[in-house]
This record gives sequence, structure tokens and C-alpha cells, in this order.
Amino acid sequence: MFEKLEPAPPDPILGLTEAFNKDPRPEKVNLGVGVYQDATGRTPTFDSIREAQKRLLQADVSMNYLPIPGAPAYANAVRDLVFGADSRIVQDNRSRTAHTPGGTGALRVAADFLAVHGGRPTVWFSQPTWPNHNGVFEAAGLPIQSYPYYDRATQGIDFAGMVACLSRLGPKDVVLMHACCHNPSGLDPDAEQWKALAELQRKHGFLPLFDFAYQGLGRGLEPDSEGIRAFSDAPAMLVASSFSKNFGLYNQRTGALSFVGQTSEAADLAFGHLKRTIRAMYSNPPAYGGALVTTVLGDPALRAIWREEVDAMRARIAEMRSALVRGLEAEGIDRDFSYLTEQYGMFSFSGLSDAHVNALRDRFAIYIVKGGRINVAGITPGNVAYICKSVATVLKAD
Ligand code: LMR
Repeated sequence: MFEKLEPAPPDPILGLTEAFNKDPRPEKVNLGVGVYQDATGRTPTFDSIREAQKRLLQADVSMNYLPIPGAPAYANAVRDLVFGADSRIVQDNRSRTAHTPGGTGALRVAADFLAVHGGRPTVWFSQPTWPNHNGVFEAAGLPIQSYPYYDRATQGIDFAGMVACLSRLGPKDVVLMHACCHNPSGLDPDAEQWKALAELQRKHGFLPLFDFAYQGLGRGLEPDSEGIRAFSDAPAMLVASSFSKNFGLYNQRTGALSFVGQTSEAADLAFGHLKRTIRAMYSNPPAYGGALVTTVLGDPALRAIWREEVDAMRARIAEMRSALVRGLEAEGIDRDFSYLTEQYGMFSFSGLSDAHVNALRDRFAIYIVKGGRINVAGITPGNVAYICKSVATVLKAD
């Protein structure tokens, strides 16, 4: 059955971590996978989460199955975090949220749901996008297309190109947008641009699908949902949330898929089918990560600690962006890197070519994703000088 298989290519992001782990060089730096590291290079468990762990242990929680869409308390907590408890969507009870195994699980449920119940629409990705979007939506058998997004020449968003492309779409199309901290470019639409995109949706009727993996790491927990809020009046919308980064729950696979309908009844109708999609895929979600998130969000004191922890991550990433720009300048590189400080979230498009990326890995054990995306959250006061020096050496060899 399997003799004729060709060797599988490594995953462009997680495959890089496998290679990094095998690299014996002590100076190695992983700027590939989007994992937060603190100033000492550790990926910490949040204080708020450690306290929630203690409480759950004491509460002696049963390991009985969760309902197909997870616990209602988790769904409500996530709904309020994503849309805002004061939002029209929540006030009108037009959303339903399912607990999924991570943000990737949420996207995959959305993809299968669209393939079966959405009439197999075409899914439009930003050019470029997170490489695994292709894998997830192709696995569900959906046709995929791209809309212009990143403009290499200006290092900004090609908004005119994006609008021109989305203006040609209709109700048989799904537009996948990064709610904040665009992965890989770090470039997000501003308030006016979100409004214009929502206006386009009203005119052309495509379905908005948001990937929301970095809430709190862009401009703050509430400002980061600005894009989603701009689409509040869309007749339907899907939001895939991940709590890997903003709760540090990477290996607990804690995410959520929210469906917004035009009315509460429409949301119920669609949600019934989403539950069937889930039942056929993994039956019901793993409980622990969701229980931790629910505990933190449900207790005002713990929630305040968590908010401070998210704010501190965002501040540290911003500091490292500045340190990187200063360090590159100090190395005498004849290029303006100031755009790096204007990008949001963990990632930046560094402007490094694939040849530079390969040279940094081979000569200096610095791992960067093909295309030049760097995980700024992997930069620390201890490695920033080494990174700048190595980048300078590689650029000067051109
Ligand atoms: C990333 O883009 O590095 C993260 O979202 C992790 C992943 O699963 O690829």
C-alpha cells in the first residue's frame, strides 16, 4: 500500500524546530516557530495559569466527556473575550462558540463545515499567509485562492490591490483574514481600512473568516478585536481563536471556533451542523486547557494578573523590535529597518532573502522561516547582539 510513497517534505515551521532541536551548536537561536520566550529565553507558564492549575487540582474535577462543543462556561468566556461582552453580537445572542483543539483545530472544523454545509466555497488567503492555512483547507477539499496583501516594495499593505481583488468576490467566497498580528508580515489594517473591508463585505456578500491567534499581542486585548467588531453586521462570520500564545497553552491545544449568525435562531441552526462536524472529527474537545482559561477569565483577580502578563509580553516584544533595529544600525548595515518597529505581534518580515536565511542557519545556527519571517518573541537581551552581528555578516557578503 505504501511502497510508492515519495518522502514527505518537512513542515516549513515545525520541521524547522525539528532541525533546530538536532543542531548541536550551543549558540543556536530559534526565530522560526511562533513561540514566546521571556528575557531569559524560557517559554514560561503564566502565573495566572499556575494558580488556575492549583485550583483545578483542589476542585477534583471529573474527567467525564465534555459536551461536543465543550463546556458552556468556556464558550461564554471566550465569546465575551473575542467579541466584547458589550458588543451587539453578544447582546443579540447571535454567536455560538465551540471549544476546539487549538486554533488549527478551529480552522479545520471551519473548513470541513464549509465544505459540507457551505456549498464548497472558494477560500481566499492573504498573499502571503501562515503556510498551514493551505494544508488545513486543502485537507477539507476546498478550492484556494489568494488576495494581494503584502507589498515588498513599500513594506506595507497593498490595500488597493486587496480591495480590487475582494471587490470581484461574492457569496460563494470565503475571505480568511488575520484579526491582528498578521502572520507572517506583522502588518494589520487600521481602523479605516477595517471599516472599508466590512463595507466591501456588505456590498459583495463574501463570508468573513477570522484567524485570531494573537489577541492581546498586537495593540491590546480589546483593540485587537477591532477588525472583528467592524464586521458585526455581517449576516454570518466565523472566528477561529487560539490560546496557545496569549495564555501560553501551546501543548494543551486550546482554541475555539465561533459562529455568528444574523439571528439567534440562525446561529443555532448552523451550530447544530458544526456539532455534527466535530462529532465526526474528534467527538469532543480535550478539557484541561479550556478549564484553565475558564478559571482565569472567570475570576477578576486572576484575570487581572493574566492581563498584566499579556501586556508584559507585548511590551517585551516591542522592546526587542527596537533593540533589533538599533543593533542592526550599530552594525553599520546600509538599510532602513525602522519598519520592523511598526509591525504588530510576534512576527516580522525581515526582508532577508532565502539565501540569507540559509546562510544564517548554516553559518550561525540562526533558524528563520523561508521567506524571511522572524519570530521577534524569540529575541532576548542575551542573543540580540549575536543575531545582529550574524545578519550583518550575511548581508555584507552580498
Ligand atoms: C507559527 O506560525 O509559527 C505558529 O502559529 C505555530 C505553528 O503551528 O506554525
